[in-house]
Amino acid sequence: MGTKYVNAVISEESNENSLPVLDGTLGPSAVDIQTLYARNGLLAFDPGFRSTAACKSSITFVDGDKGMLLYRGYPIEELAERSEFIEVAYLLMHGDLPTPSQRKTFDDALGYYNILHEQVLSFYRGFRRDAHPMAVMVGVVGALSAFYHDVMNMRDANDRELATIRLIGKMPMLAAASYTYSIGRPQRYPNNKLDYATNFLQMMFGAPNREYVVDPVLSRALDVILILHADHEQNASTSTVRLAASSGANPFACIAAGIASLWGPAHGGANEAVLKMLMEIGTVENIPKVIERAKDKNDSFRLMGFGHRIYKNFDPRSLVIQKQAKKVLAHLGKDDPLLEIAMRLEEIALKDEYFIERKLYPNVDFYSGILLRAMGFPMNMFTAVFALARTAGWVSHWLELQGESHGIDRPRQLYVGKTLRHYPGKK
Ligand code: ACO
Repeated sequence: MGTKYVNAVISEESNENSLPVLDGTLGPSAVDIQTLYARNGLLAFDPGFRSTAACKSSITFVDGDKGMLLYRGYPIEELAERSEFIEVAYLLMHGDLPTPSQRKTFDDALGYYNILHEQVLSFYRGFRRDAHPMAVMVGVVGALSAFYHDVMNMRDANDRELATIRLIGKMPMLAAASYTYSIGRPQRYPNNKLDYATNFLQMMFGAPNREYVVDPVLSRALDVILILHADHEQNASTSTVRLAASSGANPFACIAAGIASLWGPAHGGANEAVLKMLMEIGTVENIPKVIERAKDKNDSFRLMGFGHRIYKNFDPRSLVIQKQAKKVLAHLGKDDPLLEIAMRLEEIALKDEYFIERKLYPNVDFYSGILLRAMGFPMNMFTAVFALARTAGWVSHWLELQGESHGIDRPRQLYVGKTLRHYPGKK
């Protein structure tokens, strides 16, 4: 049997076979296929979700052709320049920037809930000390569900808000502890006189027995990194959180699922992979060989930090992060040879037909590893910093989903396995 085709004609007229087209406020419209199976007995096939809008959302908008990223309508460049991460987290969760009194209430709540239950700290001791921080975070964030499950009524807006405050508040100490445990250093507690990014840095790098003063330039650079990574609409980890949440699962368990998804090298693990790649390249002279490998179809190697499913022009976050990386290196008086390799690699790749044709540009991860390394973060903490930032986006999507009524997400499939057959000996 040959391939069959259906024709979709977009028109103003409705008829019994037509499907409605839904318009958003920005971006492409979407064909509403919810009744497709009931009416026509057909499923939509879209592995990788290249043409599927899985939900309506009013949180973040990405225009990959224009290189545009908006959080609740605000351009990422303006937020990175003028805002702070906690203000951005509030914006993502609530839809608007906080008034001064809303901001104070938010800060107070985060300050109240930012320490870990002492029993949570004992979980760390169960991990091998060389465990990857992301493995530890998947486990410990998931374990929080055991601490707050009974006191949580998902139908109650206050309980929902409290779960999100707990997650954003505790994440810096959770992430820092996954590092300090691995080096055997006792964990410092948050200091509520410090802002969010500064607090994370003092918990990461300070010891409990001595003063630790965080460099404000590093603190601001970290805050910018957190803003840039706070949300990115329906990416793999956010979709994972939404899918898990659609069954009514505990929010801490949903965020742990998001962390698991983020860990992969095609997603949040890419900045770690970029740095490993730059180290392997070693010198500028080796760049052409690496470019050839990336282009070779018989080689599975990809240029890490290049390409993006949505951005086919440039990733606006990569420009901001490159600027921050240069600023921090100049401030610290460091001359990182990896920055030179990265910039040369970018220059060569952007002139190469292979990358031009496929619209492959540096993404946010291309320079974030260099910046985090300059700030003193070990490589295996890069994705944990991303998870800390993305928690703001994940909880915002989790909150948005609670207001929806479509029930549990249940994708269908195109079955291509064996047809009915019988166990030997049975008729
Ligand atoms: N290096 C070399 N070739 C590449 C790269 C790359 N980094 N990325 C894509 N391509 C090629 C593919 O081989 C393919 O070529 P073909 O058409 O000849 O077969 C073409 O470009 C399209 O690739 P897809 O995999 O279809 O593109 P997709 O949009 O699905 O992939 C992804 C996006 C996963 C980010 C990909 O570009 C990649 O693997 N990049 C490296 C990993 C990375 O940096 N990930 C971070 C993503 S950003 C984030 O999570 C914050």
